[in-house]
Amino acid sequence: MAQIYLNGICKRFKVYERPEGRWGLLKGAFMRSVREVCALDDIGFEIDAGEIVGYIGPNGAGKSTTVKIMSGILTPDCGECVIDGRVPWRDRVAHVSRLGVVFGQRSQLWWDVPVADSFLLLKDIYNIPAAQYRERCRELAEALDITGLLKTPARQLSLGQRMRCELAAALLHRPRLLFLDEPTIGLDAVSKLALRRFLKEENRRTGVTVLLTTHDMDDIEALCTRVMVIGKGKLLYDGQMQALRETYATRDGEDIDEIIAAMYRKMDI
Ligand SMILES: Nc1ncnc2c1ncn2[C@@H]1O[C@H](COP(=O)(O)OP(=O)(O)O)[C@@H](O)[C@H]1O
Ligand SMILES: [Mg+2]
Repeated sequence: MAQIYLNGICKRFKVYERPEGRWGLLKGAFMRSVREVCALDDIGFEIDAGEIVGYIGPNGAGKSTTVKIMSGILTPDCGECVIDGRVPWRDRVAHVSRLGVVFGQRSQLWWDVPVADSFLLLKDIYNIPAAQYRERCRELAEALDITGLLKTPARQLSLGQRMRCELAAALLHRPRLLFLDEPTIGLDAVSKLALRRFLKEENRRTGVTVLLTTHDMDDIEALCTRVMVIGKGKLLYDGQMQALRETYATRDGEDIDEIIAAMYRKMDI
């Protein structure tokens, strides 16, 4: 079986809405309407160990919901998800010991303490032996060029600096799987390039499996040969980047953003 296996995954959310208008707040105290949002509709795919797969789609398509289910944070309404022989939400502790996750819009570093202290807390959380921790810390600090930042509290770092520290934090326990949910969002060009270079090298050296959610098609082109495209909760494409280009490009040398936009239009998402 593949390292990551998803089949028929569905997830709906209930959204409570207050009536609009001047008296909405008051009326809302007595009557709220409930609407259901279908975030994921029959999602299935397999990913082999060592792959780097791009997961793309417009805002609200269901990317983060998929990542949360695969991380064991959310339980789907139906469907199967087996990763390394485990069901993430049933066997969370064992699952996260093999998993690193970075959410671009959220931080796993403690805001007011030096980055090094956050790392030490993670060392205890993951039970990393001292010698192994020292070695890994040194290795990651060097590769991500964060040695000089370790004494700084996370809130004082620039976004690019913080994201490099977030990546190191996610990889301290040498996970076999790395889920990145929009890690390059808001980063400048230099930081993006550094991040891509690091991910490529880390994948080559350690064989870590990477699922990368992004809006940045340059991230995808730099890192992934395989892409999955999701729209309105449905998986629309799963295959080689090159084949996607050949299927949807309307002219030679067309920009990949235009190709993806054309694909969305064609599929009405
Ligand atoms: N906790 C939640 N409660 C209600 N609706 C949610 C929740 N999380 C996500 N959604 C909805 O599910 C859909 C998919 O969201 P998400 O997975 O975050 O998309 P993406 O990451 O692709 O932008 C969206 O319509 C979003 O509004
Ligand atoms: Mg998202």
